[in-house]
Amino acid sequence: MGLLIRGGEIVTADSRSRSDIFIEDETISRIGIGLYAPPGTQVIDAAGKLVFPGFIDPHVHIHLPFMSTFAKDTHANASVSALIGGTTTFIEMCCPSRHDDALDGYHTWKQKAEGNSACDYAFHMAVTRYDATTEAQLREIVRDGTASFKIFLAYKNFFGVTDEEMFHTLKLAASLGVITTAHCENAELIGQLQQLLLAAGKIGPEWHEPSRPESVEAEGTTRFATFVEQTRAAGYVVHLSCAPALRAAVEAKSRGVKLYVESVLPHFLLDKTYAERAGVEGMKHIMSPPLRDRRNQAELWSALNTGLIDTVGTDHCPFDTEQKLLGINAFTQIPNGIPGIEDRVNLMYTYGVKRGRLDLHRFVDALSTRPAQIFSLFPRKGTIAVGSDADLVVYDTAYRGTISAATQHGINDYNGFEGFAIEGRPSAVTVRGKVQVRDGVFVGEPGRGRMLRREPQYGAQEVDYAH
Ligand code: URP
Ligand code: ZN
Ligand code: ZN
Repeated sequence: MGLLIRGGEIVTADSRSRSDIFIEDETISRIGIGLYAPPGTQVIDAAGKLVFPGFIDPHVHIHLPFMSTFAKDTHANASVSALIGGTTTFIEMCCPSRHDDALDGYHTWKQKAEGNSACDYAFHMAVTRYDATTEAQLREIVRDGTASFKIFLAYKNFFGVTDEEMFHTLKLAASLGVITTAHCENAELIGQLQQLLLAAGKIGPEWHEPSRPESVEAEGTTRFATFVEQTRAAGYVVHLSCAPALRAAVEAKSRGVKLYVESVLPHFLLDKTYAERAGVEGMKHIMSPPLRDRRNQAELWSALNTGLIDTVGTDHCPFDTEQKLLGINAFTQIPNGIPGIEDRVNLMYTYGVKRGRLDLHRFVDALSTRPAQIFSLFPRKGTIAVGSDADLVVYDTAYRGTISAATQHGINDYNGFEGFAIEGRPSAVTVRGKVQVRDGVFVGEPGRGRMLRREPQYGAQEVDYAH
């Protein structure tokens, strides 16, 4: 049985037209006006609605042992939340710590997701230690279809790598043609500043931002870009939060470093005053890099609109109130992370496109097409074209609602964006041709999602250091 999406306004990263879309099996087979629907075809009336390619969240945490606890999510739950919000593919950070075996960790993450996700997914493989076994393990993981790495220049002695380990990771990544994503801060400076603040009795969540100021992120960004440049690797800065780090990334891009930039939902809409709220209310807004001074937001929006920021993810990472309270006596113990997988598309549409900060096509580009292109998923994902997977979002721009923990589908007991109005939401969401969501309700098949196997695309770079 086919599926016909009739009469919608198709919006991609570079085009807009009113057309029907016909889907056979899992892919788009025809696009045109007045398409014939054979008997038995399921028809979705998209008149008056926008039709977007399924959105891709390039940065989420679902299974995550971190800061003496576990992120509070399952693949079943997170994927349904993602789909209700219009995200049809996510890329999860596979993050064994430096005390774990990387390959064992990779298999654990795969097993957790397999058969449980309602949408498609892939992994970034975190390299949290680099020793004699690492190269062979990473080669096996890349052969298995995971064509991106992740390194942390923060979280010393847990996820964090040394500069030496960063160098070896990037050198291997360059030779394999895979891209390396990086959390860019300075682990040593953060550790020292944390100790000074705690020793001075500054224990509340409002001291989290001063313990990792903007210059610390800018330094990490500059250092990562320099290592990317010298190893001829491809790099991707995750969750860039502030103007000084943006300047560092843009400077590197402009001298030809192959560097992509992601910013995440919280940094566009929330500022450090949220983390300065008393008690657990502040703790709910602790993430790293921290929520920043509000003046950064205009620069992030502008850089996003012009494409200097390539992509928008969520860094979805839910910890509930009880878990946040682990940091009641020291801000350094508050589990870092803010959930957002359900809200990214609606909030970026409302506060970006509707408020005139973000061009509609750039919105599609940053939330779908660029993630697909950068992470070897394009044109299977990230566009609406004959032959592409039929991951589609029929978007109702007339919908009005308010974000609230009371109505969200995530299992966390709060929502960091509580009370934000939204002006639009998906009215239908398909994954490979199957309708998974109708008007905020999951109507599909749990566990239907597949792991997306990806090929290295950056061209192997073997630098001859002898000459
Ligand atoms: O605070 C955050 N961002 N938590 C998740 C781990 C990370 O750094 O991405
Ligand atoms: Zn991070
Ligand atoms: Zn993250």
